[in-house]
Amino acid sequence: MLGKMAAAVATFACLVVLSSLQAYEATAVPRSQVNGTICGTVYLNPKLSVPEKYQQIIWWFNESLKILTKKWNQPVYYPGGNIHNKLRYHENHTLEINQLQKQDSGTYRMEVEDSQSKKTNELFRLDVYEPVPKPRMNFTIRANEDGWCNVTLACIVDATQVTYHWRKNEKDLVGKISSTLDVALKSESHASYKCSVSNPASEETGFFNYRSPCTWNEKNSAVPVSLARKTADSILAFGFLLLVHNWV
Ligand SMILES: *[C@@H]1O[C@H](CO)[C@@H](O)[C@H](O)[C@H]1NC(C)=O
Ligand SMILES: *[C@@H]1O[C@H](CO)[C@@H](O)[C@H](O)[C@H]1NC(C)=O
Ligand SMILES: *[C@@H]1O[C@H](CO)[C@@H](O)[C@H](O)[C@H]1NC(C)=O
Ligand SMILES: *[C@@H]1O[C@H](CO)[C@@H](O)[C@H](O)[C@H]1NC(C)=O
Ligand SMILES: *[C@@H]1O[C@H](CO)[C@@H](O)[C@H](O)[C@H]1NC(C)=O
Repeated sequence: MLGKMAAAVATFACLVVLSSLQAYEATAVPRSQVNGTICGTVYLNPKLSVPEKYQQIIWWFNESLKILTKKWNQPVYYPGGNIHNKLRYHENHTLEINQLQKQDSGTYRMEVEDSQSKKTNELFRLDVYEPVPKPRMNFTIRANEDGWCNVTLACIVDATQVTYHWRKNEKDLVGKISSTLDVALKSESHASYKCSVSNPASEETGFFNYRSPCTWNEKNSAVPVSLARKTADSILAFGFLLLVHNWV
């Protein structure tokens, strides 16, 4: 009897917890995680739909610092803090933050007050990371006999909070997450290995090429996509400057 009651109480307690969780979910503010690199730029893109007419929009940093207010039909106002000259507010309510520093990490809350003074919120968590440095690479031949070529490959970066991945011939080596990789080759005439070092904001890669018998060379770093783009852009800009220069 007592057992049954206890079970009933427990079930009830669970139901209460469940329904309050659901209630919380229903009213929970949208939140997203944004990752940036030092000196880089991020865009905080709200999912919240902002009414055409609103009283004001306020952005808070770490719940205590008001960094931006925008009253309807008025220009943006930056109440203070050093952060203000790095902010750019876009028509579509996206907040752009430039020249990121470690200390810009934290929470950003967008508070929208509609024409009936009803407030809705959206939260962003920004983490700013050091860009991953290019890996230093080396290999150590452990054994070269009986047709075997046994080698330890290493990809070393002086940074914490990075993760390593290895690929062989463009196929993931699942579970290989150390900065070194032990390989043993016998029948293959050639093979390629790739190490990727990444954090949530950037990635660097290195390549090792193998040729039978036991010949290796390593190549540091393909240019990451985002960087390649930037480089292309600056080459374009440079080309344009040259053009202008030649004209003048
Ligand atoms: C708003 O504009 C910014 C800058 O032009 C752009 O980067 C961003 O993707 C836009 N956001 C949305 C949700 O369209
Ligand atoms: C903002 O909050 C984060 C924790 O969420 C903290 O690490 C950071 O130091 C705070 N930044 C400032 C400038 O207070
Ligand atoms: C490769 O790097 C590791 C770690 O820095 C070092 O211990 C090792 O001696 C290096 N090997 C060679 C062959 O340079
Ligand atoms: C090289 O590695 C293979 C496979 O792990 C192993 O069977 C062999 O004994 C190793 N050779 C030497 C000389 O250590
Ligand atoms: C940011 O990093 C976290 C891991 O810390 C990851 O879960 C999340 O997907 C990343 N966000 C974006 C937009 O890449």
